[in-house]
This record gives sequence, C-alpha cells and structure tokens, in this order.
Amino acid sequence: MSDLKTVRKDYDSRQLLESTINKDPFALVESWLKDAKEHAGLDYNAMTFATTDEAGFPNLRTVLLRGFSRDGISFYTNYTSSKAKEIEKNNKVGVNFFWKELERQIRMKGIVKKAPEADSDAYFASRPRASQLGAWVSDQSSIIENREVLDQLKKEVEERFEGKDVTRPPFWGGYTIQITYFEFWQGRPGRLHDRIAFMMNADGEWFLERLAP
Ligand SMILES: Cc1cc2nc3c(=O)[nH]c(=O)nc-3n(C[C@H](O)[C@H](O)[C@H](O)COP(=O)(O)O)c2cc1C
Repeated sequence: MSDLKTVRKDYDSRQLLESTINKDPFALVESWLKDAKEHAGLDYNAMTFATTDEAGFPNLRTVLLRGFSRDGISFYTNYTSSKAKEIEKNNKVGVNFFWKELERQIRMKGIVKKAPEADSDAYFASRPRASQLGAWVSDQSSIIENREVLDQLKKEVEERFEGKDVTRPPFWGGYTIQITYFEFWQGRPGRLHDRIAFMMNADGEWFLERLAP
C-alpha cells in the first residue's frame, strides 16, 4: 500500500470539554452510542473485545454490543470458544469502539462474567432462526476439516429442529463486563485530540482526568 504514510485526515467536527460533558461516564457512553446509532450506520455497535491468551498475548476480535447499563456491557458468544477459555483464566478484559464518522473512540476495561441464564434465554429466543441454528452448528474456534463439515452439520441440526422451536445450546450465552475504566477520545485538529479518562476512587466514586493526546 503506497499511501499508508501520506493518507491523513484532520479531525475537527466536535470537542470533548470538561466544562460541558456529562460527568457520569455511563451517561456519556449512552449519549455517544446514541450519536453512533444516528451517524455511524449499521454495525455501530461493533466493538473490539480483548482477552489475554495463555502465552500472555492480547487476543482481540470484533463482537456486537447487545446491552449497556450500569451493570455493564453485554455481548453473546459460544462458551467453549477461544475467548471463553481465555475468560476462564483471566476475567480482566478490554473493549474498544471507533466511530470514524464521529471521530470518536471509547476504550473500556473491566471484569467479565457470564450473564444470567434467563438473559441468555431471552436474547437467544429473539434471534433469527438461522442464527439460532448456527449457534448449534458451530463449535466456535475449533479446527474443522473444510466448509463441507459445516454444511453437513447444518443439515443435521435443521433436521433435528424441524417443526420445533430452536432451544438455546447450553454452550452458548451472554457475558457482561463490569466496567472499571473508561476513556473517551474525540479527534481534534493538529493531532491535539481530547482524551478524558474516568477512574474510580477508593470510595467507589468516578472521577475524571484529561490525558495528553
Ligand atoms: C462485525 C462482527 C461482529 C461479530 N459479532 C460477534 C458476536 O457478537 N459474537 C461472537 O461470538 N462473534 C462475533 N464475531 C466473530 C468474532 O470476531 C470471532 O471471529 C469469533 O467470536 C471467534 O473468536 P474467538 O476464537 O477469539 O473466540 C463478529 C465478527 C464481526 C466482524
């Protein structure tokens, strides 16, 4: 790629100032998600989710944010996948959103745990049938011989559930990340971006600090 050193954009659409922002980081995330929904289009809820592998390397992948509240960030996945195995060993995780249309990034750290079964059941029941069947078909992150293996398993699963509701596989469900750190980034001209981090003090109160860009 010949233009990697020359392609550049100046960020100048918005500001992130202590004087005007919501001092409640949860409310700030909510309002940025709302803006993202409006401006960033489909997959505005896609986030990079980081775990740590056995060798100590960060391991990142995209997952879809399916819920956000004071209890945390939720997403759904396979409980025997690589990410799930890594979570069992180390429940400290990271999340990153980047919305180029808004020149914004949110970085979060937190502690992840499985979502309540009832929550996973309710979300699974709301998914399209093809996705429900897909959850049964895919032993996520395992090595498979070829594409035909998946097609064959899909046929078998379709037959098994023919004329019936697809139940939630016991190995599929949600996770909730309780957030311990937030960092909001707003692009500004000349690479002098705004960065505001929220951390919790010993009394459990959130406080903010401005970081150099
Ligand atoms: C836009 C996008 C959204 C995705 N959403 C999810 C998701 O919500 N849950 C999930 O398990 N995988 C999702 N994936 C697939 C993951 O990135 C990843 O390939 C998969 O979860 C296996 O990861 P692992 O081997 O690290 O466990 C998504 C991928 C993309 C590109």
